[in-house]
Parts: sequence; structure tokens; C-alpha cells
Amino acid sequence: MPKIKDLSLAEAGRLKVEFAEQHMPALMRVRQDFEKAKPLKGIMIAACLHVTKETAVLAKTLAAGSAEVALCGSNPLSTQDDVAAYLAKEGIDVFAWHGVTTEEYYWCINQALATGPNILIDDGADLISTAIKENKLEGIICGLEETTTGVIRFKAMERDKALKLPIIAVNNAKTKMLLDNIIGTGQSTLDGILRATNILLAGKTFVVAGYGNCGKGLAKRAEGMGCKVVITETDPIKALQAFYDGYSVMGMDEAAKTGDIFVTVTGNRDVIKGRHIEKMKSGAIIANSGHFNVEINTEELSSLSAGKRTLRPNLEEYRLKTGKIIYLLAEGRLVNLAAAEGHPSEIMQTSFCNQALCVKHAAQNRGRLEKKVYDVPHEIDRHVAELALASYGVKTDILTQEQKKYLESWEHGT
Ligand code: ADE
Repeated sequence: MPKIKDLSLAEAGRLKVEFAEQHMPALMRVRQDFEKAKPLKGIMIAACLHVTKETAVLAKTLAAGSAEVALCGSNPLSTQDDVAAYLAKEGIDVFAWHGVTTEEYYWCINQALATGPNILIDDGADLISTAIKENKLEGIICGLEETTTGVIRFKAMERDKALKLPIIAVNNAKTKMLLDNIIGTGQSTLDGILRATNILLAGKTFVVAGYGNCGKGLAKRAEGMGCKVVITETDPIKALQAFYDGYSVMGMDEAAKTGDIFVTVTGNRDVIKGRHIEKMKSGAIIANSGHFNVEINTEELSSLSAGKRTLRPNLEEYRLKTGKIIYLLAEGRLVNLAAAEGHPSEIMQTSFCNQALCVKHAAQNRGRLEKKVYDVPHEIDRHVAELALASYGVKTDILTQEQKKYLESWEHGT
């Protein structure tokens, strides 16, 4: 039995999902193929994903392939209750509602695991690490991971010989990482900041902590909106890249003094600490777009504060004991999903084509995969790009036989 907030929201959810379907033609093409071939017959899937309209399109695609699908949320604030209601009405076993407590969050994960899945789809590794810790792995063929943070956790498990099942790092597909992480995060993070505050971006000093793919996309979009962009980094290679991309690069202690808006996208903890907050200008806005709410030390923010009030959804004003004001967005949880709706459908379609096709790949390779972290097969990655290009009517050049031969040979030189 699904557990959601309110089934009467299903009609609103249906309309949202229909709109998403219109903007995810590549994934709808995969759905058509799944409807014909039914490649997931007899497969039970448990997915721990942000419950958005795009995830609904994925869940329905997997169901079209004849899979039985259970779904729980991958973040306490990212579930869209209307979408959850619609999916529950469509026969998906949904265990998710907006604003779950930590205890409820893990209850939902355990409900999804109790459906007896064969394939686990994760976003952040909480579902699969729960299955591993609680030894609920019977019948499981493979796990798939959607995000960088989750892949890092699985690689750590692999290193520690604690990985108990094969994992496909869907995040690492080029048609995921180079699109979703860069373009998706760039747009959806600004979207979250704007929905929470409606401030003018032009002319602001926008500090991006972390210059991985997400940071790169965010910096570019903020620059495009007229911000002066400052990058903080710990990795010298990424810092040098940011410097050559034309951004000011400095440590957070320095950046804290100049920034108007701060966004963390590092995947690490304590990137903005009390000592940074003490240096910030009154009125500074801080937000996080990394997977977990550990990047901004909100406990230290609270202990520096004399009080706080909620001005509007996802916008909290902290009054520091010194009299300064600091605004925190979405409680320091991922601002793009908590204050907005996550990445747009067009971007999620390539990420989720990879998910759907990797589920099929895992089902077809039952028993043949080892307990290690796999990359997405190149043919799948390439096929996803072809599907997306075809949906836009974009044609590419095709290698001639001579060009193929040239690329494969080592004899030719100067
Ligand atoms: N991650 C980022 N954006 C998302 C979306 N729209 N749906 C599901 N997961 C996401």
C-alpha cells in the first residue's frame, strides 16, 4: 500500500506529468520500445529518486516495460506531493511525501525494499547502503546510481571491499554528467534562488563553492545573468581551470567578505562555517545545491544567531547576535529541488534514458555482473545522445570508411 500526502492531488500531478512527457521525447521513444518488447517482464524495481514530474515519466516508462515499480523520495524536501499522488493512482507503490522526518525517510526506504526488488535505482546511495547495512539483498541483480555523491560513496565501498552488489554509475555517462550536472544544475539552482527570493542577480557577487561539473554550470549561468562570479576550490587543477575561465578564485575566508550570494556545490561538508558567516556582509544569501545538507554548517549559523524567522517559503532570515542579517535558503538542502522543481524535463530526459536502458542492460545480464562499480556501456551513452538529437531534428556528419580506418590505425604519422 502506497503512503503519500493526499490522493486528491493526483489530477494536478497528472497534468504536470503530461507536460513533462511533451518535453522528454527521447525517453518517450524508449517507452514506445519498452511497450513493444516488454524487456522488464518479471523485474521488480525499487527506486529512491526525487519524486518529480520527470521521475514520474521514468517510472511510467519502466512500468511500460512490464516492471513493477516502488518509489521512495531521495531527499526530505524534494517530493512533489501531486506527482506522488498521481503515481500512486497509476499503480506505482509510492512511499514519499514532502517534509518527511529522518525517521520517516528511512521508513519509506524500508517500505520500498520490502517490495522484494531485483533492481535498485538510487540517487545519493541511501537506498542501496540501507539494503547493504540491513542485509536486504536477496534477489537483487544490480544497483544504479544517479548522482556524483552516490558514486563517490559506492567507490569508497568498493575500495573497502564492502560493496555487496554490482553498481552501474549512471551519473558517469557523458549524456548524464555533461548535461544534467552542468546545464541542469546551472539553471535549476538559479531557479531555486529566484523562486525563494525573487532578487535581482545582475550586479551581484555570486560565490560558487566547488568547480566540478555542477559548479562550472552554475558559474556560467550566474555570469550570464550579470553576476560577478567568484570561485572557491580546494583542488588546484579545478581552481586553475576556473582562473583561466576568467573567474576570480580565492579561499572562502576571503570570498566571505565580498559575496552577496553563496552557493555550495562541492559534495563535502563544512564548506561554509560559522567563521565564514561572521565575515559576511549583512544581507548575504546562502544556499546549497550539493546532494546532502552538510555543506553549510547550519548548527554554527544557529549558534551565532539571536533568532530567526521564515519570511516566505524556503527563505529564512537569521539575525546574528552582532545585529547582522543572513538569509538561508531551503534550510541548506538542495535549493534547486527544494525551492524549485529540479532540472527541466529536457535535461532529465537524457539522464533517465540512461537509467531506463541500464535497467534493461542489468536485467539482460542477470548473474553476469560482478560486485564492482561499472560505467554505463558506451553504446547506451551514444544511443541516448542519438535519441535526443533525433528528437530535436538535429543531423550530424557520419564517419566515412576511410575516416574510421584512419582513427583505428597507428601507422599514419607526419
Ligand atoms: N535531479 C535534479 N533534477 C531532477 C528532476 N527534475 N527530477 C529528478 N531528479 C532530479
